[in-house]
Amino acid sequence: MLTKDYLEKIKKEGGTVLSDIFNSGINNNEIIFILNNLGRLPAGFKGDTFIPLLNHPNDKIRLLTVKNIGKLCNDSYLGVIAYIAKTDDNTMIRREAISTIGRMRTEKAIPILIKQLNDKDPKVVLQAIRALFIFKNIKKVEKSLKELFKHPNETIKSVIEKEFSNKPKSDVKHSQSPATMQNVLVQGDVRKILKVIPDETIHLTFTSPPYYNARDYSIFKSYNEYLDFLKNVFSEVYRITKEGRFFILNTSPIIIPRVSRQHSSKRYPIPFDIHSFLIEIGWEFIDDIIWVKPEASVKNRNAGFLQHRKPLAYKPNPRTEYVMVYRKQTDKLLDWNIKQYDSKITDKSKVLGEYETSNVWFIDPCFDKVHSAVFPLELCRRVITFYSFVNDLVFDPFGGSGTLAKAALELERYFLLTEIKGDYVKRIKNRLAKQALLEPKKPAFFSLKEFIKKCKKEL
Ligand SMILES: C[S@@+](CC[C@H](N)C(=O)[O-])C[C@H]1O[C@@H](n2cnc3c(N)ncnc32)[C@H](O)[C@@H]1O
Repeated sequence: MLTKDYLEKIKKEGGTVLSDIFNSGINNNEIIFILNNLGRLPAGFKGDTFIPLLNHPNDKIRLLTVKNIGKLCNDSYLGVIAYIAKTDDNTMIRREAISTIGRMRTEKAIPILIKQLNDKDPKVVLQAIRALFIFKNIKKVEKSLKELFKHPNETIKSVIEKEFSNKPKSDVKHSQSPATMQNVLVQGDVRKILKVIPDETIHLTFTSPPYYNARDYSIFKSYNEYLDFLKNVFSEVYRITKEGRFFILNTSPIIIPRVSRQHSSKRYPIPFDIHSFLIEIGWEFIDDIIWVKPEASVKNRNAGFLQHRKPLAYKPNPRTEYVMVYRKQTDKLLDWNIKQYDSKITDKSKVLGEYETSNVWFIDPCFDKVHSAVFPLELCRRVITFYSFVNDLVFDPFGGSGTLAKAALELERYFLLTEIKGDYVKRIKNRLAKQALLEPKKPAFFSLKEFIKKCKKEL
């Protein structure tokens, strides 16, 4: 009878009894039971016992066989496992074979692993990369790995970039930010301001960029020019964001009204067009939250259809905006980010009580006497509490009326805001004036020139 106890006993024989069992015509389930339950193999165990099973038609048996040979860490099986890595149809088995070769830690495996960098499955390539990293000081290994900078797969590219990037790491702790940036509003073109902000400074960015030419606070020559502008800004936001932290973008499709009755109005799918280049920049897509407004608060597009009811002319009232959630690429889990804070801060930052559990957020819009497109305070509060810790630095490159700064102060976070228009900067100052009185770190307002000078002096 095959039991775990029996397997414990016979594996000490070094493999001979096991070979007899494999040759005795046992069925697939029994073979799988044995391979799954052999556990650690004793020193001197003969891997040859497993070799015939490498040709077994059952995928699971071949996979478990490779795993068991892997436990031996014996490079005399290098040839046979390399053959499996090269020829097996099953990706999981090829990957396991590469992992087994990696565990052998032998330079003899280098040519095999280098060849495997051409595998069609990125998972297998990644396994070969991992195995080669321990030999990366050998010229030919380094050269082969660096060739993968051009690999089409994004995960492979980012693993290689991380390993070979010689950028100095910021010496500011993950949970902290430079005092120069805390509770600061800078008036100027965000593209110029971003240039003086050091790498990995920001914990969270929440922003709503100009809506192409839908409002008159910014006018672009073309939609492409607008998208290029945002691409430029959001690449820089990527650079200044700390490892594994979030970028949250509020946008919606817009309508540019028709120029005359002979023309139709034009709809621009802004969130979808931005999404594709955010991924190119390196942002990892995490979630799409839908912000829903009451129908009475949005523009009515139904008047015509309501009268004539003719198909094709249906125009739903746009009650929603997107709140897209992205994370800066990292191989670290969120747990790593959380562990960068001491328990006092994590406790203080907990989201207690009732909270929105779905990705549909019903929030009334807000109207401001000076600015025509402002965040509701509640939207900023949610984003800040869900995606940052107390004392974090939160950034809005398109500050507008300063709603994010207001919510940040209320929730004991620091803000950094940039805004190009003088009228809006004035509005932000007014909005923050009362709160500022209570702040230990008083908000400070700078022109672009002043800010550049301050950064040069202090950073
Ligand atoms: C949609 S509004 C943001 C509103 C803001 N979320 C709020 O709650 O008030 C976009 C803002 O970006 C500003 N802006 C446009 N181009 C800019 C640039 N190049 N640099 C800095 N700010 C810019 C506009 O003046 C406008 O106030």
